[in-house]
Amino acid sequence: MALSSEFPVDLEAAILDLKRERNALILAHYYQEDPIQDLADVVGDSLALARAAQTADCELIVFCGVHFMAETAAILNPGRPVVVPDLDAGCSLADGCPADAFGEFVGQHPGAKVLTYINASAEVKAMSDLICTSSNAVKMVESMGDAPLIFAPDRHLARWVSKQTGREDLIVWPGACVVHEQFSARELARLKVRNPEADVLAHPECDQSVLDQADFVASTTGIIQRAVEFPERPSIVATEEGVFHSIRQQAPDKVLIPAPGADESCSCSLCPYMRLNTLEKLYLSLRDLGPEVSVDPVIAERARVPIERMLELS
Ligand code: 13P
Ligand code: SF4
Repeated sequence: MALSSEFPVDLEAAILDLKRERNALILAHYYQEDPIQDLADVVGDSLALARAAQTADCELIVFCGVHFMAETAAILNPGRPVVVPDLDAGCSLADGCPADAFGEFVGQHPGAKVLTYINASAEVKAMSDLICTSSNAVKMVESMGDAPLIFAPDRHLARWVSKQTGREDLIVWPGACVVHEQFSARELARLKVRNPEADVLAHPECDQSVLDQADFVASTTGIIQRAVEFPERPSIVATEEGVFHSIRQQAPDKVLIPAPGADESCSCSLCPYMRLNTLEKLYLSLRDLGPEVSVDPVIAERARVPIERMLELS
């Protein structure tokens, strides 16, 4: 049965009407589909969105991203509802680091400090001394002093940060992102031969063999800024294709080439979790005020400390 009758013909206008009625703030990550980015009040990387959530002045936050991002917004906004278009929009990094197993891992390294990438559950954040994102990970590691340091849950980001900081002793939880891990170093090398003038931009969640071939490694915001800085030069982009929208808005003639995966037939650079969110689900979340992201208040109180510390240090 078609659901289309449930939706107004001008969905975008209906979303904006509901947004005003609810006094809502729509936050969207760069990996969201273009029409969602166009409707959002703030589009950003994980750090910018956490900041926007921290300073939110509204009655409702609608978070178009993945669950850990909305959870972070909820932790920073006790008492203010945070809803999402699709509660199933998870993340392979957060899902690959269950709180009970991580608690055991931390217990095996007494005396170690815990620095956790923001792509983790509220429970894991609550066990952490400090949180980081891809845009401030180097700075956060450097702020932690020389004590033994656990870095979770992305092993690729950990290796990259370790190279940048010279800290080769990081104790690493061996997680990975299903999207960034599938970019193929072999196919990328072939693509570079065919496009020798291209600037290769990569997210630090990529495997080292891909990062070794990159001209520039940064968060989504950093990748967008670099691409826009050189509008004449083609870019090969090793991150989720959602970033293309913002680049094209700022540099319409820019040639953008998605980094290849090993399997030519897949839409490898689309995050299957981020892409669960649609305009229809965004409309429903505003209309029905749900699904709401809830965090146990005790966990939220503990998790808020390392998140706020990160925001102060960044
Ligand atoms: P950014 O913080 O760089 O936007 O990264 C978020 C993310 O999930 C990357 O896969
Ligand atoms: Fe998680 Fe990877 Fe999707 Fe980012 S791209 S939300 S790290 S699964």
